[in-house]
Amino acid sequence: MPPSTSSDLTLSVNGEKYTLTVDHRTTLLDALRERLDLTGTKKGCDQGQCGACTVLVDGRRAVSCLQLAVAAEGREITTIEGVAEGDQLHPVQQAFLDLDGFQCGYCTPGQICSAIALIEEHAAGWPSAATDDIRPEAGPPPLTPEEIRERMSGNLCRCGAYVSIVQAVARAAESKGAAA
Ligand code: FES
Ligand code: FES
Repeated sequence: MPPSTSSDLTLSVNGEKYTLTVDHRTTLLDALRERLDLTGTKKGCDQGQCGACTVLVDGRRAVSCLQLAVAAEGREITTIEGVAEGDQLHPVQQAFLDLDGFQCGYCTPGQICSAIALIEEHAAGWPSAATDDIRPEAGPPPLTPEEIRERMSGNLCRCGAYVSIVQAVARAAESKGAAA
Protein backbone atom coordinates (compact mmCIF):
# COMPACT_ATOMS: atom_id res chain seq x y z
CA MET A 1 0.00 0.00 0.00
CA PRO A 2 1.47 3.42 -0.88
CA PRO A 3 2.17 5.70 2.09
CA SER A 4 -0.67 8.05 2.94
CA THR A 5 -0.20 11.65 1.89
CA SER A 6 -2.80 13.06 4.25
CA SER A 7 -3.62 12.94 7.94
CA ASP A 8 -6.53 13.62 10.23
CA LEU A 9 -5.62 16.13 12.85
CA THR A 10 -7.14 18.34 15.48
CA LEU A 11 -6.06 21.93 15.69
CA SER A 12 -6.74 24.06 18.73
CA VAL A 13 -7.26 27.62 17.50
CA ASN A 14 -8.48 30.51 19.63
CA GLY A 15 -9.75 28.07 22.22
CA GLU A 16 -11.78 25.99 19.75
CA LYS A 17 -10.96 22.51 18.49
CA TYR A 18 -11.14 21.81 14.77
CA THR A 19 -10.81 18.35 13.27
CA LEU A 20 -9.77 18.20 9.62
CA THR A 21 -7.99 16.06 7.09
CA VAL A 22 -5.02 17.75 5.47
CA ASP A 23 -2.42 16.94 2.87
CA HIS A 24 0.88 16.64 4.73
CA ARG A 25 2.26 19.57 2.74
CA THR A 26 -0.44 21.96 3.95
CA THR A 27 1.00 24.90 5.84
CA LEU A 28 -0.58 26.13 9.03
CA LEU A 29 -1.32 29.38 7.18
CA ASP A 30 -3.28 27.62 4.44
CA ALA A 31 -5.10 25.44 6.97
CA LEU A 32 -6.17 28.53 8.92
CA ARG A 33 -7.25 30.56 5.92
CA GLU A 34 -8.60 27.97 3.51
CA ARG A 35 -9.87 25.21 5.77
CA LEU A 36 -10.96 27.06 8.90
CA ASP A 37 -11.96 30.31 7.20
CA LEU A 38 -9.82 32.33 9.62
CA THR A 39 -8.75 34.83 7.01
CA GLY A 40 -7.52 37.48 9.44
CA THR A 41 -4.05 35.97 9.10
CA LYS A 42 -2.65 37.23 5.82
CA LYS A 43 -0.43 35.64 3.20
CA GLY A 44 2.19 38.09 2.04
CA CYS A 45 5.36 36.48 0.71
CA ASP A 46 4.63 32.82 1.62
CA GLN A 47 8.40 32.50 2.20
CA GLY A 48 8.95 33.56 5.80
CA GLN A 49 10.16 37.04 4.91
CA CYS A 50 7.35 39.51 5.62
CA GLY A 51 5.69 38.46 8.89
CA ALA A 52 2.15 39.02 7.56
CA CYS A 53 1.22 35.47 8.54
CA THR A 54 2.45 35.72 12.15
CA VAL A 55 0.31 33.87 14.69
CA LEU A 56 0.99 32.77 18.25
CA VAL A 57 1.82 29.11 18.84
CA ASP A 58 1.83 28.30 22.54
CA GLY A 59 2.14 32.03 23.11
CA ARG A 60 5.20 32.51 20.94
CA ARG A 61 5.18 34.11 17.54
CA ALA A 62 5.50 31.89 14.51
CA VAL A 63 5.35 32.61 10.80
CA SER A 64 2.55 30.25 9.86
CA CYS A 65 3.63 30.01 6.19
CA LEU A 66 6.74 28.11 7.30
CA GLN A 67 5.02 25.70 9.65
CA LEU A 68 3.19 22.59 8.57
CA ALA A 69 -0.33 22.18 9.89
CA VAL A 70 0.48 18.65 11.04
CA ALA A 71 3.27 20.06 13.24
CA ALA A 72 0.79 22.34 14.97
CA GLU A 73 -1.34 19.55 16.41
CA GLY A 74 -1.37 19.65 20.17
CA ARG A 75 -0.25 23.29 20.27
CA GLU A 76 -2.41 26.23 21.25
CA ILE A 77 -2.72 28.58 18.29
CA THR A 78 -3.93 32.15 18.56
CA THR A 79 -4.77 34.18 15.49
CA ILE A 80 -5.80 37.82 15.23
CA GLU A 81 -9.43 36.66 15.55
CA GLY A 82 -8.63 35.36 19.03
CA VAL A 83 -6.69 38.15 20.71
CA ALA A 84 -9.63 40.30 21.87
CA GLU A 85 -11.76 39.34 24.88
CA GLY A 86 -15.24 39.54 23.40
CA ASP A 87 -15.83 43.23 22.68
CA GLN A 88 -12.77 44.23 24.70
CA LEU A 89 -9.87 44.86 22.38
CA HIS A 90 -6.43 43.59 23.34
CA PRO A 91 -4.29 46.49 24.66
CA VAL A 92 -2.07 46.19 21.58
CA GLN A 93 -5.10 46.45 19.29
CA GLN A 94 -6.36 49.45 21.25
CA ALA A 95 -2.96 51.14 21.04
CA PHE A 96 -2.80 50.59 17.26
CA LEU A 97 -6.25 52.13 17.01
CA ASP A 98 -5.47 55.09 19.28
CA LEU A 99 -2.12 55.89 17.68
CA ASP A 100 -3.01 55.23 14.06
CA GLY A 101 -0.76 52.19 13.63
CA PHE A 102 -3.06 50.93 10.87
CA GLN A 103 -2.87 51.85 7.22
CA CYS A 104 -3.90 49.35 4.55
CA GLY A 105 -4.10 46.74 7.25
CA TYR A 106 -2.57 43.90 5.30
CA CYS A 107 0.41 43.57 7.63
CA THR A 108 -1.48 44.65 10.75
CA PRO A 109 -2.73 41.26 11.99
CA GLY A 110 0.82 39.94 11.95
CA GLN A 111 2.17 43.13 13.50
CA ILE A 112 -0.31 42.88 16.36
CA CYS A 113 0.35 39.18 17.03
CA SER A 114 4.06 39.86 16.92
CA ALA A 115 3.78 42.83 19.27
CA ILE A 116 1.77 40.82 21.80
CA ALA A 117 4.50 38.18 21.96
CA LEU A 118 7.25 40.82 21.87
CA ILE A 119 5.95 42.43 25.05
CA GLU A 120 5.90 39.02 26.79
CA GLU A 121 9.38 38.11 25.50
CA HIS A 122 10.76 41.42 26.69
CA ALA A 123 9.12 41.15 30.11
CA ALA A 124 10.64 37.67 30.45
CA GLY A 125 14.08 39.19 29.91
CA TRP A 126 14.82 37.99 26.40
CA PRO A 127 17.54 40.16 24.83
CA SER A 128 17.50 41.35 21.23
CA ALA A 129 20.29 42.27 18.83
CA ALA A 130 19.81 45.86 20.01
CA THR A 131 20.37 45.01 23.68
CA ASP A 132 23.68 46.37 25.02
CA ASP A 133 23.92 44.40 28.24
CA ILE A 134 22.80 40.81 27.75
CA ARG A 135 23.89 39.51 31.16
CA PRO A 136 20.89 37.79 32.79
CA GLU A 137 21.36 39.87 35.95
CA ALA A 138 20.95 43.05 33.89
CA GLY A 139 17.25 42.24 33.47
CA PRO A 140 15.07 43.45 30.60
CA PRO A 141 16.50 46.56 28.91
CA PRO A 142 14.29 49.64 28.57
CA LEU A 143 11.90 49.04 25.69
CA THR A 144 13.28 51.91 23.63
CA PRO A 145 12.15 52.65 20.06
CA GLU A 146 15.38 50.99 18.92
CA GLU A 147 14.53 47.83 20.87
CA ILE A 148 11.00 47.80 19.48
CA ARG A 149 12.22 48.30 15.91
CA GLU A 150 14.71 45.47 16.23
CA ARG A 151 12.19 43.13 17.86
CA MET A 152 9.56 43.94 15.21
CA SER A 153 12.01 43.69 12.32
CA GLY A 154 10.51 40.41 11.10
CA ASN A 155 7.29 42.24 10.24
CA LEU A 156 7.39 44.40 7.16
CA CYS A 157 4.91 47.19 6.45
CA ARG A 158 5.25 48.35 2.91
CA CYS A 159 3.20 51.49 3.39
CA GLY A 160 5.47 52.98 6.02
CA ALA A 161 3.36 53.04 9.19
CA TYR A 162 6.41 52.17 11.24
CA VAL A 163 6.52 55.30 13.36
CA SER A 164 2.96 54.81 14.54
CA ILE A 165 3.52 51.10 15.06
CA VAL A 166 6.56 51.72 17.29
CA GLN A 167 4.55 54.20 19.33
CA ALA A 168 1.65 51.78 19.64
CA VAL A 169 3.88 48.94 20.85
CA ALA A 170 5.49 51.28 23.39
CA ARG A 171 2.05 52.40 24.60
CA ALA A 172 0.85 48.81 25.02
CA ALA A 173 4.01 47.89 26.91
CA GLU A 174 3.69 50.83 29.29
CA SER A 175 1.26 48.95 31.50
CA LYS A 176 4.16 46.63 32.32
CA GLY A 177 6.46 49.58 33.05
CA ALA A 178 8.75 48.45 30.24
CA ALA A 179 8.77 51.31 27.77
CA ALA A 180 11.52 53.89 27.90
S1 FES B 1 3.54 35.18 4.41
FE1 FES B 1 4.63 34.23 5.98
S2 FES B 1 6.33 35.50 6.33
FE2 FES B 1 5.37 36.37 4.58
S1 FES C 1 -0.39 48.74 6.94
FE1 FES C 1 -0.12 48.28 4.81
S2 FES C 1 1.60 46.99 4.65
FE2 FES C 1 1.44 47.61 6.69
